[in-house]
Amino acid sequence: MPPPPTTTFLLFLLLIFQLLLAGGVSSQDTDLESDCTDRWIHIRHLPPQFNLDLLANCSEYPLFDNFCPYISNHGLGQKTHNSSHSWYRTDPFMLELIFHRRMLEYPCLTPDPNLATAVFVPYYAGLDSLKYLFGPEVNSSFRHGLDLFEYITNVDNPSIWNKNLGHDHFLVMARPAWDFSQPLSNNPPIFGSSFLELPEFFNITALTLEARAYSWQEQAIPYPTSFHPPNLAFYESWVNRVKKSKRTTLMLFAGGGGISSNPNVRRSIRLECENVTSMSTNGTGYAKFCDFVDCSNGICEHDPIKFMKPMLQSSFCLQPPGDTPTRRSTFDGFLAGCIPVFFEEISAKKQYGWHLPEEKYEEFSVFIQKEDVVFKGVKIMDVLMSIPRAEIRRKREKVLEMLPRVMYRKHGSSLGLRSKKDAFDIAIEGTLQRIKSRTEEIAAQHYVLE
Ligand SMILES: *[C@@H]1O[C@H](CO)[C@@H](O)[C@H](O)[C@H]1NC(C)=O
Ligand SMILES: *[C@@H]1O[C@H](CO)[C@@H](O)[C@H](O)[C@H]1NC(C)=O
Ligand SMILES: *[C@@H]1O[C@H](CO)[C@@H](O)[C@H](O)[C@H]1NC(C)=O
Ligand SMILES: *[C@@H]1O[C@H](CO)[C@@H](O)[C@H](O)[C@H]1NC(C)=O
Ligand SMILES: *[C@@H]1O[C@H](CO)[C@@H](O)[C@H](O)[C@H]1NC(C)=O
Ligand SMILES: *[C@@H]1O[C@H](CO)[C@@H](O)[C@H](O)[C@H]1NC(C)=O
Repeated sequence: MPPPPTTTFLLFLLLIFQLLLAGGVSSQDTDLESDCTDRWIHIRHLPPQFNLDLLANCSEYPLFDNFCPYISNHGLGQKTHNSSHSWYRTDPFMLELIFHRRMLEYPCLTPDPNLATAVFVPYYAGLDSLKYLFGPEVNSSFRHGLDLFEYITNVDNPSIWNKNLGHDHFLVMARPAWDFSQPLSNNPPIFGSSFLELPEFFNITALTLEARAYSWQEQAIPYPTSFHPPNLAFYESWVNRVKKSKRTTLMLFAGGGGISSNPNVRRSIRLECENVTSMSTNGTGYAKFCDFVDCSNGICEHDPIKFMKPMLQSSFCLQPPGDTPTRRSTFDGFLAGCIPVFFEEISAKKQYGWHLPEEKYEEFSVFIQKEDVVFKGVKIMDVLMSIPRAEIRRKREKVLEMLPRVMYRKHGSSLGLRSKKDAFDIAIEGTLQRIKSRTEEIAAQHYVLE
């Protein structure tokens, strides 16, 4: 028996249903770019087993976490304080809910799939994968997605899929793509579902938190952070705080790991950080060379205050790879105006091309090859101390310029704030462009063949 639904959950359902019945959130009066040419999106109707029902089992995956508290506020989670307007205890895996809610207020929705450039599938893929990743169906992970495929190609109006054979369909899968890329030949399965390995889904566009190095279907979009301002005033007051913040620490690492004796970049960072704290900062303009925010055992995950305050005081934020090359912390750092230091190109540069264009990395970040740090004795502090003050200032200005692009503003936010393209807007733009060129390419091929 599923547990009794919580009040929050019931309220959530009610809200979503109201929105669905109303056919989306009315946005006629707030539509900025009223020209919807090539921007029409149709949302596929899915029965609740593919989205809302999955929330009812939020406490059923002990190996994952009880994610019931993170569902509130349409996936933003609970506010950090009762009086807070912009800060939430956001869990990045809730991006499927956050995205769905934002989709409902997208200004160019159409009930007619034939008019649509793209078709959104409101499936909570990551939440549905939990039963294969951590639940009773770990040994049938090749089944992940087959029910969905049957529904959208056979049960529900098949002409919607057949119009472009799925090339115009897209969905959000709020986990690294690796979690959905288990080869179908693994028997018994090792870890992960095989959703992205199924030929059935080769044509769709999947928005994931991290893409594989060689991917076809998926595109990485930013991890949600904890900052979701509801209007321009709250956004600007935060940005002003970031601009004014005194950067008394040279570099910061917020994370865990690196405690084993095997050489790896997290271990090198830990050792260097311990080492430099005893050195004199006299005359350098910094009070501290290195700040280590210990986030072991997930203690920072739903507590943004733990790392945001130190990030505000630091010039550089170190973003080493961990279990996976990408980190939510990269985006937390952006919000704090903390210049990212990357150690692998696949940590961000080769991932978030829509949101953080590859050619801009030199302007807003620092790159140090991880092998140089681990094996060649390069000291991160020496690299960072050699960067002139004026260049640090320019880099920070660029980080601030990029900030809106990696934040997810709150649903239903004010008109003023909607004028800034946020992570959602840019994800939609990228998706529409990709789908348009893909469907045009296919149409051209048919033309040539005929
Ligand atoms: C919820 O969990 C119960 C028990 O684990 C299971 O029987 C049921 O199918 C699950 N529901 C969904 C929608 O996954
Ligand atoms: C926050 O609000 C909730 C519900 O209104 C209340 O129960 C709780 O005591 C409040 N907490 C604080 C710290 O004010
Ligand atoms: C999955 O398969 C493995 C190996 O065949 C087996 O040991 C394990 O008990 C199975 N797990 C479940 C949940 O059925
Ligand atoms: C994917 O598209 C190709 C043509 O581009 C088509 O041959 C194939 O049948 C499509 N797959 C599905 C599952 O619709
Ligand atoms: C720590 O400092 C000592 C002395 O300056 C130096 O020899 C050593 O290489 C440093 N270790 C690390 C990991 O930075
Ligand atoms: C710091 O440097 C100044 C001169 O540059 C010197 O007067 C002062 O004693 C130094 N302080 C410490 C704590 O070393």
